[in-house]
Amino acid sequence: VMLPLKEKDKPIVQKLLSAGCCARCVLRFCCVSVQAAYRQAQHVGLHPILLVSAYFLQDSADIKPHDTESSQTVEDPPCKRAKLDPTEAVQSETDDAAMVTLKKEESSVCALCLGILQDLCGPDQLSSVCVRSVHLRQTHSILPSQNNRMLKFYSLPLQHSCWLHVKKEVRQKGLVLDKDDVIQVKEAFKWIMQGLVTKQLEGVAVSPFEVGVEFTHPDTESDCHFLFCTSLMLCLMPLHLRCFSFLLQSVFTRMAVVKALEKISDVKFLEHYPCPPSEPSGSCTPQDIQCLHISVFIAGRYNKFCRNLPQTPWVIDGERRMESSVEELIAAPILSAFRADGFNFSSSGREDVDVRTLGNGRPFAMELLNPHRSRFSKVEMKQLQEMINKSSDKIRVRDLQIVTREAMSRMKEGEEEKTKSYTALVWTQKSIENEDISFINDIKDLTLDQKTPLRVLHRRALAIRQRVIHSMNVRFVDSHHFYLGLKTQAGTYIKEFVHGDFGRTKPNLCLLLKTDTDILELDVESVDVDWPPPIPE
Ligand SMILES: *[C@@H]1O[C@H](CO)[C@@H](O)[C@H](O)[C@H]1NC(C)=O
Ligand SMILES: *[C@@H]1O[C@H](CO)[C@@H](O)[C@H](O)[C@H]1NC(C)=O
Ligand SMILES: [Zn+2]
Repeated sequence: VMLPLKEKDKPIVQKLLSAGCCARCVLRFCCVSVQAAYRQAQHVGLHPILLVSAYFLQDSADIKPHDTESSQTVEDPPCKRAKLDPTEAVQSETDDAAMVTLKKEESSVCALCLGILQDLCGPDQLSSVCVRSVHLRQTHSILPSQNNRMLKFYSLPLQHSCWLHVKKEVRQKGLVLDKDDVIQVKEAFKWIMQGLVTKQLEGVAVSPFEVGVEFTHPDTESDCHFLFCTSLMLCLMPLHLRCFSFLLQSVFTRMAVVKALEKISDVKFLEHYPCPPSEPSGSCTPQDIQCLHISVFIAGRYNKFCRNLPQTPWVIDGERRMESSVEELIAAPILSAFRADGFNFSSSGREDVDVRTLGNGRPFAMELLNPHRSRFSKVEMKQLQEMINKSSDKIRVRDLQIVTREAMSRMKEGEEEKTKSYTALVWTQKSIENEDISFINDIKDLTLDQKTPLRVLHRRALAIRQRVIHSMNVRFVDSHHFYLGLKTQAGTYIKEFVHGDFGRTKPNLCLLLKTDTDILELDVESVDVDWPPPIPE
């Protein structure tokens, strides 16, 4: 059996095997990124001695680590044991006396992956995944299969200890091996399971779904504590022990552990942690397996035609202040059409509850979580849009379309530089003269200094922002009222420009017209973001 290891990997392989690592962990530490190798390894490398000889039998195999292209060219070897079909593999094991004895020897749990890449990565796990995916299929429409699974739990200090164990070897032999090149357990797990699931579901139509698997292990629960104890101990001394462990729980994000491991010196680490890792008491326990349909992303533009609708649910002290919101009105028909569990809404800026959004509308995008239906034709999208339009006269939607996760970022790109147009109904204390109108109409590119408005000070930091009003035009209504059209840089506080916010915005309309002015109504006329692309009628 051909595996992409080389003579030069031999010292590392031997070191890892004697430390009690499994075949797949050996591949990981040799930075092998050929996916097929991980799928085969279970059936080849059952005994350390056999493993080493099997690996080096074909040492001339010219596959370099991290050569992803070659991963496609590696064919299934003609060896019966390396077949991916789990049922067949079980059969051949019982047929084959040699395999049976080897199987017993292998029953020791890998000191590095704690069994995750051994039996926990086999037919048993597979069948629970498949049962769930078939359930998904029954509730739903047909798409090519594609899986994406995640492995959440893994003890990073264990990996670090193993790394320190082989590091000396690496340095001495002048091998080029970097800690970051070591393949993560979750990657290897994904490659193996993906192969198995794809095979199992061959010919079965399943929509794209995502599988989350979680493992726990008693030995490793307190594994990371020492990393934080040294720095936390001093300030936590007076605290009760339970508070301490609670704090630790909240401290253990994966990123925090990665950072702590980067900081700790090898000597300090070895004071607290066995190297090579000690023999585990047993293998991991798989926790719940979660199968979710992968998210669908929707984009469009919305108009808002009323002055009493917030963009997002308005809750003060746990109490709802308005019965609906823009996002809920848009989302309700979409959620039921896609049969999704939830959504995440974002938009290019937002308007106040009493501001209308007219013209071409405001770009928005939403992530639909766990949608049980994901394919919609253009005609169906149009029907969905019509349904939203008819559901309420407060909002309308256009350019509704399915987009990719990546495309969504275009909405936020360069948001600050974009322009927005508004119309404000303005009241003035003194009566308006013709000179006032031409004075305002002639102003170009006026830079404002805007101190954070009083009305948003409770949720925004106090700062002074500069914003530009590119142009203005006045439409006379009566001697104390006019409509002011403004074209401004995105993020300009229009209300504050008109009433001055007690001098916090300078210059402002009161200063410019030398009288008291106030804003009675405000409409957004256009949001000049060229995403999402318009859908022709
Ligand atoms: C919603 O989006 C935010 C930001 O993109 C993200 O942090 C959050 O996890 C998302 N929520 C869900 C439920 O996916
Ligand atoms: C929904 O309303 C928008 C805005 O008025 C309009 O442009 C669009 O054509 C309408 N779509 C449908 C399908 O009714
Ligand atoms: Zn292992």
